[in-house]
Amino acid sequence: MDEKIIAVTKGDGIGPEVVNEGLKVLKIVAEFTDFNFEFKDAPAGGEVYKKYGNNLPDKSFDIIKNADALLFGAIGLPDLPPGVAESAILRIRQELDLYVNLRPIKLYEPLRDRCPLKDEFIGSCIDITFVRENTEGLYANIGDISEDRAENVMIYTRKGCERIIRYAYEFAKKMGHSKVTSVDKANVLKTSQLWRRIFHEIGEDYPNLQKEDFYIDAYCQWLIRAPYKFQTVVTGNMFGDIISDEGAFLIGSLGMASSGNIHPGKVSMYEPIHGSAPDIAGKGIANPIGAILSTKLMMQESFQSPDIAEEIERSVEEALKEGRTIDLKNPEIKSLKTKEMGDLVAEKLKSRLKT
Ligand code: NAI
Ligand code: MG
Repeated sequence: MDEKIIAVTKGDGIGPEVVNEGLKVLKIVAEFTDFNFEFKDAPAGGEVYKKYGNNLPDKSFDIIKNADALLFGAIGLPDLPPGVAESAILRIRQELDLYVNLRPIKLYEPLRDRCPLKDEFIGSCIDITFVRENTEGLYANIGDISEDRAENVMIYTRKGCERIIRYAYEFAKKMGHSKVTSVDKANVLKTSQLWRRIFHEIGEDYPNLQKEDFYIDAYCQWLIRAPYKFQTVVTGNMFGDIISDEGAFLIGSLGMASSGNIHPGKVSMYEPIHGSAPDIAGKGIANPIGAILSTKLMMQESFQSPDIAEEIERSVEEALKEGRTIDLKNPEIKSLKTKEMGDLVAEKLKSRLKT
């Protein structure tokens, strides 16, 4: 038996609705494989803030720190000022030093009709993984603001660049990719010049992988012009924030996209990329696939089980042929509520793992 403790932060709005479907899938994994999961609730976010005056109580953070992985929904409430609930996420990322933000962007065949690109631009497939540096650069919050002037300082260190770039090469190797793409702005930014140098230095350890560089502005164009060209894409904090959201729209709905905030070998956090969606919360119509695919990433990255991860992904793809939540509306395919979508994926997974 492989015993794992999974901390669970359901959060606000649709967070609990989608996380419950992720848990459904993990329970099927536990039933039919050697894994055994203990789920521990670690409440955080807006509702918790209202109750205790703290968006991440020590008790919750202790559970997270001592777990093998964290499954996270989304946090944020419309009646709280921006950041009051959400800053819990930054604290988790910083204190656990989750330096990898992993964001896979995969267009499943049944969702081709939902991709905003014409068929000729989609090409053979869209299957890109963005590897975003998650701790340095402009988001490290170094700066100042007065009435007349504001500054943010962009710092990248050799250590910070090396660890994320090496992660990207290792990821590409593990996934059987042939190429790693680096996105920067080395024609203008000194930080990018260091980044690019390190990208090629470390690349020498991976002679079987092709390397290519893009400037961020040109890359934004290529991402919609020929997305089929890209496999693993590594980039800094701000560029990664922007292009991964651009990419997320290519796969049909914000509700489809999953992510990992990772420190290899340590407790890492897996979450759908969407927020708490107050406009649809409580209606039971949220798409749970982003949360379900976050459990896939957890199996792949934290629990070293690529086979189970793949079974989860295939179950999602099969399920999407038969039913979808309304954000992916297609008149020829049955509309499902959040729970029904989760049930359908769970059913597919069950029959795949049984055989
Ligand atoms: P959002 O992602 O919550 O919603 C944007 C739009 O997408 C809404 O129309 C929503 O209904 C739709 N949507 C999102 N997820 C969906 C799903 N699974 N299925 C179907 N439709 C879905 O972004 P918004 O409205 O900007 O933020 C709402 C709150 O969430 C804010 O408080 C924000 O700060 C917070 N937030 C939290 C995040 C996190 O916990 N990691 C990430 C992003 C936002
Ligand atoms: Mg973002």
